[in-house]
Amino acid sequence: MSSFKKDFTDEDDKNIDNKELHGSEAEGLLKEEGNEFDNPVRPASFDEYIGQTKLKKNLLIFINASKKRSAILGHHDLDHLLFFGPPGLGKTTLASIISHELGVNIKITSGPSIEKAGDIAALLSSAGNGDIIFIDEIHRLPKPAAEMLYPAMEDFKLDIIIGEGATAKSIRISLPRFTLIGATTRAGLIPSPLRDRFGFSSRLEYYEPDDLVRIVIRSASLYGIKIDDKAAFEIARRSRGTPRIANRLLRRLRDYMVHLKKDAVDIAVAKFGIESLGIDELGLDANDKLFLRMIIDKFGGGPVGIETIAQAMNDEKDTLEDVVEPYLVSCGFILRTKKGRIATELAYKHFGLTKEDSLF
Ligand code: ADE
Repeated sequence: MSSFKKDFTDEDDKNIDNKELHGSEAEGLLKEEGNEFDNPVRPASFDEYIGQTKLKKNLLIFINASKKRSAILGHHDLDHLLFFGPPGLGKTTLASIISHELGVNIKITSGPSIEKAGDIAALLSSAGNGDIIFIDEIHRLPKPAAEMLYPAMEDFKLDIIIGEGATAKSIRISLPRFTLIGATTRAGLIPSPLRDRFGFSSRLEYYEPDDLVRIVIRSASLYGIKIDDKAAFEIARRSRGTPRIANRLLRRLRDYMVHLKKDAVDIAVAKFGIESLGIDELGLDANDKLFLRMIIDKFGGGPVGIETIAQAMNDEKDTLEDVVEPYLVSCGFILRTKKGRIATELAYKHFGLTKEDSLF
């Protein structure tokens, strides 16, 4: 066993690299019971989960049908599920809610923390009957590990090679009946044999401002923060359609509230905090703005390759592609073309510029 990720503990700010545990320590700490993650605002049921209405409806239909069949089968038979879309929209939360609804345990790990096929074998064979196995960033599973999953997902069997060379033998072992939930920010990078083995795939969409307002008000109440509707709306519209960002912004505004010696987050606290954090009208933060200004100011508006931008920003290409770009694309600020990224007229306009303002 190499390493597994414990559940996310820093409220909504999951930082996968900080959550890796190793060897027996990891096994001991793997989240297996219940779904009360340490995050106090993480919804524990579909009733508490705001937004993603269509997806929620579908999931409830699948879960209820599967629960009905379990009266005959003796266990649920929920098919493997794949959630994709930008980070922070609730893929892990949904997996944990599903385990809760089915009354089974959930084991949480991530693609990068699985190093070899044997790690998959250990993970699956230690599951209880009906358990949910959640693999975040499933597109980053090493190839041998992904290939080990194929027969496991299809037949709940594992083919294990014992020994080497001429004396090597293949044995087939039976696995508990598990449901795999995969999550990815990059559905396109999942090999098609793996993608095809999910019985249902869905994109998680950016949240509407109204849903984010409800999320902010709910979270404020759970954190014990007083907030008025105007401030909640201000947070919602500056959070790039993303609950994780909205909840983080709420917690920062709680700090500004204390700094300003107020007893509630009102619109004045919200405006002061948001301005101090350098978040603009559309919720773009310093990194988003740097990304756009790099293309505009240093590369004549593009097209410029993502590797070149990453190098210029001293940032990771993958982070830019998975975290920064999706929202800028959804705002219509950049185009991802074969030749590279292009800043659109809208992006120039956002900074009060025109194409002619570019250096070349
Ligand atoms: N906190 C984070 N995401 C949420 C959601 N979708 N509904 C309610 N609270 C949340």
